[in-house]
Amino acid sequence: MQQIAIFASGAGSNAQKIIEYFKGHNRIKVALVVCNKPGAGVISIAERSAIPVLLIEKEKFFRSNVYTNALKDRGINFIVLAGFLWKIPATLIQAFPGKIINIHPALLPNYGGKGMYGEIVHEAVIANKEKESGITIHYVDEQYDHGDIIFQARCDIIESDTAHTLAQKIHQLEHKHYPGVVEEVVIKSTKIE
Ligand code: GRF
Repeated sequence: MQQIAIFASGAGSNAQKIIEYFKGHNRIKVALVVCNKPGAGVISIAERSAIPVLLIEKEKFFRSNVYTNALKDRGINFIVLAGFLWKIPATLIQAFPGKIINIHPALLPNYGGKGMYGEIVHEAVIANKEKESGITIHYVDEQYDHGDIIFQARCDIIESDTAHTLAQKIHQLEHKHYPGVVEEVVIKSTKIE
C-alpha cells in the first residue's frame, strides 16, 4: 500500500476530493494530513474521515528534520501539496525524491513564484486580459512553482469573468483532475523504485 500525506493550509476542498477518491482504493491510502494552521478547514475534513492530522510548527519545519523523520516513521511514501503555502525545505525534497507534487491555479510558468497564490493569481490573470487560464500539477523542487510539469488543463476566460468567477472555474478543474493525476503519478513512482 502506498501511503500519501496531504499537506494543506486552507479550506481543503482539494484535500477532500483526494480523500474521497482514495477511500477503499486497493493500492493508495491517504494516511496523514499535514497542516500548519490551527483551525484550518482541512483539519475537520481529515477528522471526519478519521485521517490523522499532524499540526506543524514553522521553526521545526524549516530548521530541523523532526517532520521528515515523522513522515518516514509513519511509512509515508508520497507527498501531495494541496494549498500548502510554505516552501518545502531542501531536506524534505531530498528525503522524498520525485515524490512530492503540487497543484498551482494557473498555467505555469506564467503566474507562479513567491507570493503568487490564491486570488492574487486570478487577479493578475484578469488584469492582463488573458483569454485563458488553467491548472498546473508539477513536481516540487527547491524553487516556488518550478519543478517539472506533469499535467495542465485549461479554461476559457470570458469578458464578464472576475477573479472570483475565475477562481470558481479553476477550483472545478482542480477537483476534476487532481485525484486521478495523483493516482497515476503515485503508481508510476512505485514502478521506477
Ligand atoms: C487551490 O486553488 C490550489 O491550486 C492552491 O491553493 C488552493 C487550495 O484550495 N495551491 P483548497 O484549500 O483545496 O480549497
